[in-house]
Amino acid sequence: MLRRWMAVWMVSAAGAALLLAGCTETASDEDADTTAPAETAAPSDEATASADDDAGGPDAPVGQYKIGMSQCNLGEPWRVQMNEDIRATAAEYAELNIIFKDAQNDTLRQRAHIEEFVSDGVDLLIVSPLEAAPLTEPIAKAYQAGIPVIVLDRDVLGDQYTVFIGADNKLIGEAAGRWAAQALEGKGDIVELKGLMTTVPGHDRSNGFHKGIEGTEINVIFEADMKWLEPNARKEMESALARFPKIDLVYAHNDPAAHGAYLAAAAAGREDEMIFIGIDGLPQEGRAYVEQGILDVTFEYPTGGMEAVETARAIFRGEDVPKRITLRSRFFTPENIASGGEWIDRAFELTGLGAADETADVGESAPAP
Ligand code: FRU
Repeated sequence: MLRRWMAVWMVSAAGAALLLAGCTETASDEDADTTAPAETAAPSDEATASADDDAGGPDAPVGQYKIGMSQCNLGEPWRVQMNEDIRATAAEYAELNIIFKDAQNDTLRQRAHIEEFVSDGVDLLIVSPLEAAPLTEPIAKAYQAGIPVIVLDRDVLGDQYTVFIGADNKLIGEAAGRWAAQALEGKGDIVELKGLMTTVPGHDRSNGFHKGIEGTEINVIFEADMKWLEPNARKEMESALARFPKIDLVYAHNDPAAHGAYLAAAAAGREDEMIFIGIDGLPQEGRAYVEQGILDVTFEYPTGGMEAVETARAIFRGEDVPKRITLRSRFFTPENIASGGEWIDRAFELTGLGAADETADVGESAPAP
């Protein structure tokens, strides 16, 4: 745990301010997940997790801290994994009691969840927002009311929250662009399947990619907003295939979309004509697709679940936390997947197209064991 947590701070500009006070006991991995009895008509989008009663030391009152976790949807494996990372980390600390709510891809519902958490008097909020603008206000209100707020993965507008945790989407997009440029030898026609464009990751992954292919003869011949969802991506790809007799590469902003595009191409018997790039790199999803020869590369987008819980603990201990914690990413190809992938700065080196963006913090250059 200590090593894991220190690695988080190594990528954070202000990380040196935070020292780990002590990660001693380990709880049983069994979460105390509960759902309310059916007759109370409890919302099906709520669940709780806390450590076993005997997990805390003498100084850690069980369930002392109530954390509200507002998840924007659980329809994709990546978000299920984020909740699982939070639950598993929290299970190590008896003093944490996490209440999960799932907004089911509905912005209004997520706004309501945040307001409910505030009126329930939670000690801290973790929010993984659906969209930037509409979630900015409820998050700011909670923060101004004195509740620490950790914004996870998708950013909001302004700075009215305690800390943002996420990977660098611009850098990931740029690395994907460089990788594409190298794979296509600087020339080709491509399809871009974008994430929801009312979210910051959608914008950043697109802008970064376009920066990465600058100066090449690569043309984006078809682009569409697939709203992060595989069925939308598949449909959009069918349109692209119908319109264009030659597609050299598909850049999808997440792995579900890359998979949907592959299925559309395979149904048209054209999957071997093109290269497929995805983002997320979950072991059970994107990395498995690379192993199966479906994707040519996936760029990791870590969930930040463990880091969010550790940051919450640091806040409860009264420590200063940095405003932004930037998580590192690896990329996985058929060549490097068996050895655990490579950090994305290597994707820049491989291309020989110039150095990585110097403002970006990519940390050390050795992959995780
Ligand atoms: C899941 C997801 C991931 C993506 C992230 C971006 O909802 O679409 O696939 O990386 O959100 O915020």
